[in-house]
Amino acid sequence: MILTASNKTSLFAKTAAVALTCSVLAFFLYFEPPTPGCPSTLAEEHYEGIASNEKPIVLLWSWPIGTVFDLKICASHFKIDSCVLTADRSLYSKAQGVIFYHKDIDWNLRNLPKDPRPAFQKWIWFHVESPKNTIKTPGLDNLFNLTLSYRRDADIVVRNELTIRDPGVKGDFVLPKKDKLVCWIVTNRAASTGTAVREKYYQELSKHIKVHLFGGITGHVLGYDEYYPTLASCKFYLSFENSIHKDYITEKVNGALVAGTVPVVLGPPRENYEQFIPSHSFIHINDFPDARSLAEFLLDLDKKDEEYMRYFEWREFYTATPHLLSTQNEFIQPVCLACDHMSRDKEFSVVHDLYKWWFV
Ligand SMILES: *[C@@H]1O[C@H](CO)[C@@H](O)[C@H](O)[C@H]1NC(C)=O
Repeated sequence: MILTASNKTSLFAKTAAVALTCSVLAFFLYFEPPTPGCPSTLAEEHYEGIASNEKPIVLLWSWPIGTVFDLKICASHFKIDSCVLTADRSLYSKAQGVIFYHKDIDWNLRNLPKDPRPAFQKWIWFHVESPKNTIKTPGLDNLFNLTLSYRRDADIVVRNELTIRDPGVKGDFVLPKKDKLVCWIVTNRAASTGTAVREKYYQELSKHIKVHLFGGITGHVLGYDEYYPTLASCKFYLSFENSIHKDYITEKVNGALVAGTVPVVLGPPRENYEQFIPSHSFIHINDFPDARSLAEFLLDLDKKDEEYMRYFEWREFYTATPHLLSTQNEFIQPVCLACDHMSRDKEFSVVHDLYKWWFV
């Protein structure tokens, strides 16, 4: 759902280097306490009896808000095949990882496993909504071992990442045909979910510039096959988040970048966006004193082709990957990433104060 510019190659190189350093250190520190950042010998003992070449079992405790999907999609779509992903609770005692979707955790924790947790097993807190839309279910401290969220400081980070282009491959970007200036797909307009800020901004903006609305109660509801083509047909797209939180930069931005339109963002400060996407790939509402000035800027930019095209220069260096559409797909990528993580995970870890971390 979210974006990160990352250099996968260097990440892998780093991981390999750490692994090497750790194994050397582990040899010399045999009688010492575990080295920070290295797999602890304690945790490795817990893995006794599980052959290291066997894939770990990762259990999805329940289908997120009842959404069933084919777990094989991790292998077919994301090329992640390094764990045995299952929703079969009879495998609980053998599972190295168990994923719990936050919204589905019962207020009294009654729907959590009744059987004792095996010492090697990790519980994964899975949550992809913003703090504003997080139910504060009590009793979750010192319960989980890993967090799975869009936050950059989560143990398993789930975002739509920009990837670095192969420098040898020449960019072949052709600006899609445009017949609309500003577009916005909006379904959720319930103020209780934090949308009042963007709603107010939109009301003001639309006084000064025409905004084509799609989705929900506003009119034309787009089919999945219409999503990318519609975005592509607009020069600017309002990537307005429902609530404003650190790192909460969602597929609303990714969609625009993929489609070849310029996202106009409302969310956390510009600096936060720039940690994930190039500074000149988007327009931030905070770059302007008010909605009227933003409207004037967009109307002016509409007349200046060369200046407009500068918002696509990043494409020479990075590639945006289309995110899967449909509700169930919102849950698939995180589950696949948890599977991938568990195949490498060897460290002891506990999430002590979940909410203190989450509600920053
Ligand atoms: C996971 O967290 C639980 C609860 O805090 C803890 O008792 C357990 O030792 C942890 N296990 C691992 C493998 O990190």
